[in-house]
Amino acid sequence: MTIKTLTLSAGVFFALAGAAQASCEVTLAGDIQPVLDMRCVGCHQDAAPGAGLSLQSGSTISNTVGVPSTQVSDMNRIEPGDTQLSYLYHKLAGTHGDVGGSGERMPFGGQLTDDEMAMIANWIEDCEAAE
Ligand code: HEC
Repeated sequence: MTIKTLTLSAGVFFALAGAAQASCEVTLAGDIQPVLDMRCVGCHQDAAPGAGLSLQSGSTISNTVGVPSTQVSDMNRIEPGDTQLSYLYHKLAGTHGDVGGSGERMPFGGQLTDDEMAMIANWIEDCEAAE
């Protein structure tokens, strides 16, 4: 095998690896809801939904997917397939001000880890924020 063939093979390998990363690798129940339970539900629950938003188990989808944000009414809290059109994601990334939003970065008084952010991005982008 020549050097050139090796380089080409590596190129194909990384292209395939890149494509593999764009697949859905998380579930709401197994990966996302546990983070919401730990970091969000204290303030966003059915009995006391901060900003009109409950992220309690069983309510997450119906309170987010395709539901307009209260702070930016022409943007949904979660738009399946697109973090940039998802106000909830902007609140977590701290970019909510750039899209006309207000208030604090979430979770209030802290922020999610890079791993947690990557999981939520994967769920919205590649799992279409499915149940
Ligand atoms: C300590 C309480 C607290 C925690 C914890 C918290 N929030 Fe919030 N959240 C609020 C309050 C209060 C508001 C409204 C004021 C503001 O935006 O700063 C809000 C607003 C929001 C909004 C805007 C809702 C809309 O429709 O415009 C989103 C989205 C949000 N929070 C998501 C989250 C997520 C996701 C988490 C967990 C990662 C979280 N919050 C954790 C208190 C909290």
